[in-house]
Amino acid sequence: MNLIGSAALVGTAVAIVSVCIVAADLAKMREELAALQSVELSAGDEGEGDHEEELSTYMAHLQRHTSKLGLAIQSRNRDLAEFYLDEVSEFVEDIIDNVPLHDGLEISELARTILLPSVTQTYRVMDNDAWPSIETSYKGIIDSCNQCHASTEHAFIRIVIPESNHGFHQDFDVAETD
Ligand code: HEC
Repeated sequence: MNLIGSAALVGTAVAIVSVCIVAADLAKMREELAALQSVELSAGDEGEGDHEEELSTYMAHLQRHTSKLGLAIQSRNRDLAEFYLDEVSEFVEDIIDNVPLHDGLEISELARTILLPSVTQTYRVMDNDAWPSIETSYKGIIDSCNQCHASTEHAFIRIVIPESNHGFHQDFDVAETD
């Protein structure tokens, strides 16, 4: 074999070896990806990560609609108040259906027993009753929000009845100790 021939042979051998290395690398990468995916899948299955994200998103929606419900009631606008009451109850249902647990706390069950009754009561009075009784049952909803925050280690999130058409309607002051 001449020099060029043996050089070509060596070259081919190098090429074959490097193809093998690339193939091995690819296989390894594929394995790693599969491992990553299965980690993500099992985290998704347990739902913990997803639900943490979902609960605060649900709460943000609840807060916005609850505030607007209060403002519509203060403006004596029954159609608008009914619209926001529907929105509030949809999110309450979503929480009951979709968030059984959050950090080990039984969110679905607490939402059903603490918040749902005050929302149902507001529905009862919304159709025909005078505004003062609608306002009373609206206050019941706000109390339920805070009662559940107290029951779920979030007593520092204190929701208040909106007093103006601006802001978050949340009390940001440090709570006074009794
Ligand atoms: C089932 C119990 C429960 C009920 C009922 C409940 N909350 Fe919450 N809320 C929580 C928990 C738990 C958190 C903390 C979530 C987290 O860790 O991300 C929270 C967080 C929040 C936050 C902070 C997130 C943000 O966007 O600033 C707001 C605001 C809030 N809730 C508003 C409300 C309002 C308004 C109501 C009533 C209409 C309500 N919540 C009813 C349990 C509840």
